[in-house]
Amino acid sequence: MRNEQWEKLYEEIGDCRLCGLCQTRAHAVPGEGNPQAEIMLVGEGPGADEDATGRPFVGRAGKLLDKMLDAVDLTREDVYICNVVKCRPPQNRNPSPEEMRACLPYLRRQMELVQPRIVVCLGKVAASCLMHENFAITRERGVWQTLEGRDVIATFHPAALLRDDRLLIDAWRDMQAIKTRSQGLPQEEHG
Ligand code: URA
Repeated sequence: MRNEQWEKLYEEIGDCRLCGLCQTRAHAVPGEGNPQAEIMLVGEGPGADEDATGRPFVGRAGKLLDKMLDAVDLTREDVYICNVVKCRPPQNRNPSPEEMRACLPYLRRQMELVQPRIVVCLGKVAASCLMHENFAITRERGVWQTLEGRDVIATFHPAALLRDDRLLIDAWRDMQAIKTRSQGLPQEEHG
């Protein structure tokens, strides 16, 4: 993804000091994948492995995310993956509203550059940021909404799936729905 706008954005994120998370990061984690992807996946924020490498979703949750993509014949090269906050919150706590607000312009610029048709919120934090506050992931996941002309859906965060494998079936259904929509096929109702 070599072009000036991307390079500038990644440089700004790498040097960012807009919130306190810059003080404890090893690396900012801007995001990666296909810069012209139809599907953008948005997680919460980097964990320890991501902070160490500067790459999104490379730890255990990331491995499961790869499997979820593979289950619907998608790879990381097909999608663009990033997070609401680009620097790791200490002890993997949830990012604060102020941290999310400070970081949101970067995500907006990523959306403008990628122009995805479909945005997938991975977990409650991303959904609360992009869809509506106090998003109830168990009740509201799997339901399409529209955000600035894009189709947006939330599914469980892969870390939640690692904690509770009973959630896998719904996450798998969501992935199917995402794949179907990306192909422009009619959707089956699913809950
Ligand atoms: N969890 C996230 O939300 N994002 C990552 O990049 C890794 C784990």
